[in-house]
Amino acid sequence: MSTLVRNIGELITNEASGPYRKSGFAFTHSDGLITWVGPETEAPNDCDHMIDASGCAVLPGFVDSHSHLIFAGVRAAEFAARMIGEPYAAGGIRSTVAATRAASDSELRSNCESLVAEFHGSGITTFEIKSGYGLDVSSEVRSLRIAREFTPETTFLGAHVVPSEFAADPDAYVDLVCGEMLQAVLPYSRWIDVFCDKGAFNPDQARKILQAGVKTGLLVKLHANQIESIGGVEVACELGAVSVDHLTHTSDAELIALAGAGIVATLLPGVEFSTRSPYPDARRFFDAGVEVALATDCNPGSSFTTSMQFVIALAVREMHMSVDQAVRAATLGGAHALARTDIGLLAPGMRADFLILSAPSIDFLAYRPGVPQIAHIYLAGKALTT
Ligand code: NIG
Ligand code: FE
Repeated sequence: MSTLVRNIGELITNEASGPYRKSGFAFTHSDGLITWVGPETEAPNDCDHMIDASGCAVLPGFVDSHSHLIFAGVRAAEFAARMIGEPYAAGGIRSTVAATRAASDSELRSNCESLVAEFHGSGITTFEIKSGYGLDVSSEVRSLRIAREFTPETTFLGAHVVPSEFAADPDAYVDLVCGEMLQAVLPYSRWIDVFCDKGAFNPDQARKILQAGVKTGLLVKLHANQIESIGGVEVACELGAVSVDHLTHTSDAELIALAGAGIVATLLPGVEFSTRSPYPDARRFFDAGVEVALATDCNPGSSFTTSMQFVIALAVREMHMSVDQAVRAATLGGAHALARTDIGLLAPGMRADFLILSAPSIDFLAYRPGVPQIAHIYLAGKALTT
């Protein structure tokens, strides 16, 4: 069964050829895949269904390559304290660990389910979920098992912080992560990640953990340079990471290294907003030839938002991205940060994940901050009710 999407105000396909915003274009999809894209005047006339976009903008679904949706409890008081001067510290993670360990499977699942519904409402069609609030073997396995019910893009982040019971011997915790914990989470994980920053893990510990993950076939991501630059970028380059995330504080040499290694820089402006930190200037990343992705980093500590629209608005206003760059980073950039070749583009053969806005252009995503602009969301050609 084929469907023609027509009367599109501007179409974003993310294909390299032609202008970024295409006018007068239409496309068709069938069995969940895009089958044709081109000028509406040349559209096939034998489709079974037709969607009239009413002159509104159409773009690929957002790809959120970084989130932490398996947790219990909130940290609103910590946020309020930061707004009046307290700094962000990695140690706050431990209070979410205590609440997560104490929660039942069904509490964790239903919290995640509500957040996923919010993701869909904000136009996110593909998302990654990390563990990292369990930090013992059974709690990490449980987190990833539940995450797998929602997405194939699951990331083992046993090295989020050192849990309190290992405070006296962090290296023993690193050994646990590299050994028994890694083996136990393997059936539920595609990625491995480490928080390599002040107050979390140092570059030697990160290297050891990521190397163990690579040996078992996991793909590598890294949280680095959020609080300080302590050498995580170098480790990511050595280990062939697909993306390095946060990069709030990044030197020119680190940008050159990321570009040379073809690593995606995943910027998370919800974190700078929520921790009152300086926003990185995305122009430096583009000038250095680094590919950029945007993600929500949804978590109860440093960025409790599920809105990719909010992230785009911040990236445009505070990180100096153009609207086109921000939309590309939130779609194709996210797909690359997840090493996915079937999403992020509207082109023949790609999955038919797309959004119809309630506005004529993608500018409205940043121009009307805080106002929902997603009229319809389609996942593999099927309308999702949000
Ligand atoms: O990506 N920075 C490290 N981890 C999360 C925050 C976790 C928390 O504060 O609970 C992040 O920002
Ligand atoms: Fe994160």
